[in-house]
Amino acid sequence: MPTLVAGIDSSTQSCKVVIRDADTGELVRTGSAKHPEGTEVAPAAWWDALLEAITAAGGLDDVAAASIGGQQHGMVALDAQGSVIRDALLWNDTRSADAADALIREYGGGSEGAGAWTAMTGSVPVASLTVTKLRWLADAEPRNAERVAAVALPHDWLTWKLSGSTELSDLATDRSDASGTGYFDTAAGSYRFDLLARALRITEDAARRIILPRVAGPAEQVGTGDAARGWGHLLLGPGAGDNAAAALGLGMSTGDVAISIGTSGVVSAVSPKPIQDPSGMVTGFADATGEFLPLAVTLNGSRVLDGAAKMLGVDHAGLAELALAAEPGANGLTLVPYLEGERTPNLPHATGSFIGLTRASMNPRDVARAAVEGLLCGLADGLEAMTSQGVPVESITLIGGAARSAAVQQIAPAILGREVTVPAPGEYVADGAARQAAWVLSGSATPPAWSTVQTQTITGTPTPQVREAYAARRELIAARD
Ligand code: XUL
Repeated sequence: MPTLVAGIDSSTQSCKVVIRDADTGELVRTGSAKHPEGTEVAPAAWWDALLEAITAAGGLDDVAAASIGGQQHGMVALDAQGSVIRDALLWNDTRSADAADALIREYGGGSEGAGAWTAMTGSVPVASLTVTKLRWLADAEPRNAERVAAVALPHDWLTWKLSGSTELSDLATDRSDASGTGYFDTAAGSYRFDLLARALRITEDAARRIILPRVAGPAEQVGTGDAARGWGHLLLGPGAGDNAAAALGLGMSTGDVAISIGTSGVVSAVSPKPIQDPSGMVTGFADATGEFLPLAVTLNGSRVLDGAAKMLGVDHAGLAELALAAEPGANGLTLVPYLEGERTPNLPHATGSFIGLTRASMNPRDVARAAVEGLLCGLADGLEAMTSQGVPVESITLIGGAARSAAVQQIAPAILGREVTVPAPGEYVADGAARQAAWVLSGSATPPAWSTVQTQTITGTPTPQVREAYAARRELIAARD
């Protein structure tokens, strides 16, 4: 009988469970369940979905260890009894945009404020980061803020639930997710209670009484499963933020870049040293192995293609067919796809724009092409920001739901100006969590060497003129919003 491990991806849209052989990484069984829509969600819904997905995956009775990868940054505020105080605000909820501006202003504003935050935490606050959500809570819901006894992120709250503990002191997380809070010094690896205090408008002494999840090492066991549910045999790993879990699932190392197009569009790269980018384009997060994982994250990922397909009355295959039937540059049409605000660049109140409509370009093929090119140009900006920070880029892997689009795959090398690698469709976040669970179980210094990722390489002729047109039009939007 092989030893089995479970990897869980609690993402924005759903919960996925993969069960793999701990030694070989071979996939044994899977399960999934949907999450509710919206940017404000009751954490209990994630827990219900996790239980449903575990059942769909055949349960955990024969599984030796489990880890959870989860959507980053969401604010799960707990009271002294361990109850959730209010629905969690997710990473893509932009109501704390003004709080982000205020926090930067309080450290000198502009580039001085941004520089202070990158020196303290590695990242410039934007509405996604937990620190800004806590400031929003303090200002908009002071009664709720007064009740905060602990603050967790989605993945560490779920790990705690799996353990069955109700003791706040048992909460644990990992560096990758802690680094996305905005009150964690990523380079030093320790919390900044002064920043937590500032966010909540309380004294540092009061902030130190708030429990933040213990930051465990990359392969450290943080507990066991809930014995009352029959999971007493299950070792629990520290888990990770979803992007760090995906990097572990793909087996990324220095020089490897992943471009993940799910709800968010994420450019991530492993870096041996911490990154501090005061422009805010690149966040200086940590990875799940002890290194760093700078990210450039857009709010507008697969929804750009979803919206374009809906507008054109086609499905995703139809959209790809239309886009591939058009010429590069879509007859001069550009989509700047900031549909519900954008985070990179930081334009939380922006809307999207089609620019360059003419009688020649006002047709389904060019609209479809502009949607795919606009999505990819936003990600190319992120990649460029990464290289300008000195992050090495040797290979690019495309993952996420929208990376399955034939148009995204074919057009990506042209827009990015480099060949891309496309692995077989898979649950790379859940796989990374499973690999972490196997690592915890093995007690080894390095994660197990699973070779489960099959890839194909796609090349194309670069079209720098498309990016130039996009860049000029992006600036128009930035000036307007
Ligand atoms: C990363 C981020 C998103 C979420 C999506 O900074 O906000 O990628 O983690 O799940």
